[in-house]
Amino acid sequence: MKLTGQTILMTGGGSGIGLALAEAFLKKGNDVIVAGRSESKLAAARAKGLKTLTVDLSSSDAIASFAKEAVAKHPSLNVVIHMAGIMKNENLPKGSDPSIITETVATNLLAPLLLTQALLPHLLTKSEATVMTVTSGLAYVPLALTPTYSATKAAIHSYSESLRWQLRETNVRVIELVPPYVRTALMGERQAQDPNAMPLEEFVSEVLTLLEKGGDQILVERVKPQRMAGDVNLQKEREFFNTQNERLYAIRKPEFEA
Ligand SMILES: NC(=O)c1ccc[n+]([C@@H]2O[C@H](COP(=O)([O-])OP(=O)(O)OC[C@H]3O[C@@H](n4cnc5c(N)ncnc54)[C@H](OP(=O)(O)O)[C@@H]3O)[C@@H](O)[C@H]2O)c1
Repeated sequence: MKLTGQTILMTGGGSGIGLALAEAFLKKGNDVIVAGRSESKLAAARAKGLKTLTVDLSSSDAIASFAKEAVAKHPSLNVVIHMAGIMKNENLPKGSDPSIITETVATNLLAPLLLTQALLPHLLTKSEATVMTVTSGLAYVPLALTPTYSATKAAIHSYSESLRWQLRETNVRVIELVPPYVRTALMGERQAQDPNAMPLEEFVSEVLTLLEKGGDQILVERVKPQRMAGDVNLQKEREFFNTQNERLYAIRKPEFEA
């Protein structure tokens, strides 16, 4: 992917990975529009020189008009990065809140699919365009404490493969960004401070290097064991699943059982 001179729409660009990548793209001479719900996050992004749009992507009805607004205000738009996402614990036998299921599927799965569909006619008119989806190592080895989240990320991986195939003879490239566990507030302050999570700046810097090299999937070194667990052999994948889930359950037990 070209890293300069692009017009990039970054959903979920008001915080975390999205904001850090948006700032990095801005520094490299791109026009970057970040979109999200929180006005205070968007105001802070504007103060950094980013452009902003307000949208609640969990509302499927809002997406077609949001796409129209984005294209009307930024006709040079040629890259969309589907960064917005939510991740919540769900204790299924205990009877977790069903709204977690609907909100997670709406935000993480329906929104990128509908927004891609709405933007494709425009992207196909550009000489070069990119759709970047954002999955997770958990798309490949699920975290059992967050079953709906892990399922949406696995579905986005599958969709990305199909979309790339359907667009293979067009000017639109499809890139899947597969983050490992990164130090953001996705699941709250504990994650933002967790020394086991990859530092955000390190992650962004490795992602930029990999984007420059090209490729369908952006896999930083830290995510490779999780991404590849099933490729080595099924026994290895089971072992990875069990170790990952026992370890994280031990750490997160108090919040998960709360
Ligand atoms: N951090 C990790 O360990 C990790 C690992 C793998 C994958 N990821 C993925 O990376 C992406 C970014 O996550 P992050 O870690 O940077 O967490 P984050 O800081 O919480 O970023 C998520 C962003 O999504 C936006 N968002 C959430 N719901 C939205 C909605 N309904 N409409 C519009 N925007 C919405 C939030 O902004 P508003 O609240 O303002 O709407 C927020 O800026 C997510 O897709 C996540 O699944 C993260």
